[in-house]
Amino acid sequence: MEVIEGIADLKRERRHLKEPVGFVPTMGYLHEGHMSLVRRAKKENSTAIVSIFVNPTQFGPKEDLDKYPRDVPRDLEMLEKAGAEIVFTPMAQEIYPEGFCTWVDVEKVTENLEGAHRPGHFRGVATVVAKLFNLVEPTRAYFGQKDAQQVVVIKRMVGDLNMGTSIVVCPTIREWDGLAMSSRNSYLSIQERRAAPVLYRSLLLGRKLWEQGERNPDDIRKEMAGLIEKEPLASVSYISVADPETLAEIDTIKGKALVSLAVNIGKTRLIDNITLGE
Ligand code: PAF
Repeated sequence: MEVIEGIADLKRERRHLKEPVGFVPTMGYLHEGHMSLVRRAKKENSTAIVSIFVNPTQFGPKEDLDKYPRDVPRDLEMLEKAGAEIVFTPMAQEIYPEGFCTWVDVEKVTENLEGAHRPGHFRGVATVVAKLFNLVEPTRAYFGQKDAQQVVVIKRMVGDLNMGTSIVVCPTIREWDGLAMSSRNSYLSIQERRAAPVLYRSLLLGRKLWEQGERNPDDIRKEMAGLIEKEPLASVSYISVADPETLAEIDTIKGKALVSLAVNIGKTRLIDNITLGE
C-alpha cells in the first residue's frame, strides 16, 4: 500500500494504475461502514484508492472541524489489512491554495434536510468531491446510504457536469443495537450512546406504520417525533418524508419515500434514514 500526500505524486502514480479504479473518499477515523465501501471497491475494481481528508469547507463556523476525530496511523493499518492499493492524504493548503475561489454549487437538492440546517455544507462536499474525482479519475466511487442527501447531491453533480465516474451506493452499516456507524458516534458519552439507537427505532416505527397502510407523512412524522421525545437526551432537528430523488417533501406516500432525520443526542448531531417501498 502506498501513502501519497502530494497532488503531483498522485497524478504521476495514477498513470500506471491498473484499471478499473475504485475510489472511497473519506474524512478518516475509519469504522466498519467505511471498510465495507473499501471491500466493495476492492471486489469490483483492479485498484482501490482511499482518500483521508477532513475537508474544512464542509464545516460551518460553529461546527466541529477542530474536534473532528482523527487517527491516521490507525486508519492506515486498517486500510493496509483491507488491501487498499493507494491512500491519498492531502494537506488542506494543497487542496485549497491561497486565492482559491472556485466552487461547485448543486442547487435544489441541497435546499432541504441537512442543506437547510447546515448552510454551505454541500457546497464544500461537492467542491472537494469534484476536486478528488479530477485527481483520482475513478471508474467508480463508493458512498454510504447513511448520508442519503450527500449521495443525491453527488449523483446530481456527476450527471450535470458529465463526470465519467459511476456512483455506487452501499448500505448503512449498523451497530448491534441499530445505531448507524459514524465517526461522530465517538463524541457520545456512555449515557448518550445508550440513547442514540432511538434514531433507528423511530425509523423502524415509521416503516411499521407504512407497512400497516399509513400513507400520510404528517402522521408518520408525528409518531416518530413522539417516540424520540420520550428519550430525555434526544431532541429532534427534523424528520422528513421525501422523494428519494428530488428530496422534495411528499404529501401522500405513493411510491418510494426516503424517511430521514437528524437528532441531537446531547450536543452531538446524528443523522439516519431508511427508504420505504424499496
Ligand atoms: O462523507 C464524507 O466523509 C465526506 O463528506 C466526503 C464525501 C469524504 C467529502 O469530504
